[in-house]
Amino acid sequence: MINLVEYHHIDLYYQDQPVLKDICLTIPKNKTVAIVGQSGSGKSTLLKLTMQLLGKDAVVQNGRILFEGQELLSLNTHSWQSIRGREIGMIFQNASQYFDPRKKIKDQYLEILSKHFNMDKNTALETAQKQMRQVSLLSPDSVLGKYPFELSGGMAQRVAIAMALSLKPKLLLADEPTSALDVVSQKQILEEFRMIKEREEMTIMIVTHNMAVAQYLADYIAVMNHGGIVEFGTRDQIIYSPQHPYTKLLLEVTKKEEHYHG
Ligand SMILES: Nc1ncnc2c1ncn2[C@@H]1O[C@H](COP(=O)(O)OP(=O)(O)O)[C@@H](O)[C@H]1O
Ligand SMILES: [Mg+2]
Repeated sequence: MINLVEYHHIDLYYQDQPVLKDICLTIPKNKTVAIVGQSGSGKSTLLKLTMQLLGKDAVVQNGRILFEGQELLSLNTHSWQSIRGREIGMIFQNASQYFDPRKKIKDQYLEILSKHFNMDKNTALETAQKQMRQVSLLSPDSVLGKYPFELSGGMAQRVAIAMALSLKPKLLLADEPTSALDVVSQKQILEEFRMIKEREEMTIMIVTHNMAVAQYLADYIAVMNHGGIVEFGTRDQIIYSPQHPYTKLLLEVTKKEEHYHG
């Protein structure tokens, strides 16, 4: 089995407070890994660190992140410009964080494509339309003509997913991509992720606080608590024979809630 990403003993602090504690995690290529844990456990910090999106107040005291064998934490700003988006894509909880409110979707979409690919405008437009249809945006031209605020949460999240996928990243990071959506849109976006997983050769790391989401989507599950990984295993190991008390607790909570039947 080939690994795309390896986290080695990551210790990260905010103002002398440990937020990630000795994180060791291996992400196998073309698999989906769910990172599950309650709010404040450090899930977003781990994803943002992988994308080099943390502020200067986040201090990595120790550790390495290897992406295809390349050390990410020591890369300079220039190298990051060709990796962020292109090699590693990210989808956020709230797609509006991602868009420029003053520009139509079309301008933002084509800008991203022209930044990373040497494409003429027509090819870029066709690429966008095709990718949008693949995430069930069936009238791409109408969506492209809109401003971000004119889209519903679910639509905006689909556009964000299409934009990320257009760059064909090797690694797709998704930070609670359905948490801000209504229940129906949540279900639809999760189905979209499942299709992406089946269709694309892509490694996905998805952060969620919901075990049911992990069960629905993941090949492997990492359980986080208080900045550490308490348990890692295949989906079936974690769901059907959890070892750690915290994993058992999360599974109990999920059973009680039964928000989502995947
Ligand atoms: N910019 C920041 N400055 C200080 N503390 C932060 C900052 N961002 C996150 N934290 C702290 O780090 C911990 C983990 O946060 P986060 O990674 O957002 O957790 P999660 O995504 O699992 O909810 C929390 O205790 C949070 O308060
Ligand atoms: Mg978070």
